[in-house]
Amino acid sequence: MFVLAIETSCDETSAAVLRASEPGRAAAPEILSNIVLSQDEVHAPYGGVVPELASRQHIKTIAPTVGEAMARAGVGLDAIDLYAVTQGPGLIGSLLVGLSFAKGLAYFHKKPLIGIDHLHAHLEACFLENPAIAYPVLGLLVSGGHTALYLMEEPLSYKLLGKTRDDAAGEALDKIAKFLGLGYPGGPVIEKLGKGGDAKAFPFAVPRTKDRSLDFSFSGLKTGALKLIRENGIMAENPRLADFLASFEEIVARTLVDHMQAAADQVQPKSLILCGGVARNTRLRTRFQEFARRAGLDAYVPAPKLCTDNAAMVGAIAIKRFARTPGFTTDLDLDAFAR
Ligand code: KG4
Ligand code: ZN
Repeated sequence: MFVLAIETSCDETSAAVLRASEPGRAAAPEILSNIVLSQDEVHAPYGGVVPELASRQHIKTIAPTVGEAMARAGVGLDAIDLYAVTQGPGLIGSLLVGLSFAKGLAYFHKKPLIGIDHLHAHLEACFLENPAIAYPVLGLLVSGGHTALYLMEEPLSYKLLGKTRDDAAGEALDKIAKFLGLGYPGGPVIEKLGKGGDAKAFPFAVPRTKDRSLDFSFSGLKTGALKLIRENGIMAENPRLADFLASFEEIVARTLVDHMQAAADQVQPKSLILCGGVARNTRLRTRFQEFARRAGLDAYVPAPKLCTDNAAMVGAIAIKRFARTPGFTTDLDLDAFAR
């Protein structure tokens, strides 16, 4: 079975072709291609994603990206058995480009189309490389738009345990980098420039919501960071920049892992997964693995290219859903949802 998956929820145009030999079985599908076209250069001058520019860029790049994914996979559209597309959450204009394109293909080729939740797809990215992760799974999704903890008690079940009440972790990194004039996206540049810095140099404390719930809050941390920047005259050429960035990155990582630990105490999972764009971060990956070792739990993080937005993760979840739903037919009424 061949699947063509499309992802355009934010500022990456992505298309992937997957082959599933035994849909629904233990074997992971094979990724034949996973093309990701970043719009970073378009948005960099603004220090963040400009929704209007993002959708216009997707309009230009969707057809060539799908063409490239087909060519790399070495299959024609006639061979595709199933179409998958991100339905939301995301930027509505961006989502509509991918959704309309996928509907057109499914309609013309008379093949089923499955709409996929972007956040669930991030969690499923982990299973592409490790199909036999033991349930129940506690998943921490950390991206530019979302920071959330999920309990997966069985395949395709996603129970939200906590989420951010304000900024997402990636958003906080992006905003600090923007304020310091370091460029966009902020996460990778903070990681690069903070390398070798003293992560204990600046005093940050792990923020906790007042009711001690599993929800996150990063806006206080961001405000505290902005205050330290002003008080210490931190800027691009400041010799303490590396220390500051390392300290900020460290507190973000510790906050995330601290919440995961609280959640693990509550739900007693068998495995832990970390996913989303910020999961590319080496410091966070290290803190996560340290916690998993202490807790004696199996821990999984996708390869970096499967952490950031990509269509392969969308195809992965579609294959599982398709296998669960015999007689699934094309749903051309699919609507996009922003939230
Ligand atoms: O999952 P993603 O590609 O898009 C969303 O769904 O939001 O995540 C993008 C986020 C951005 O905030 C970016 O700064 C962050 O992931 N990011 C990183 C790294 N690479 C990307 N954050 C920290 N360290 C990195 N190496
Ligand atoms: Zn994402």
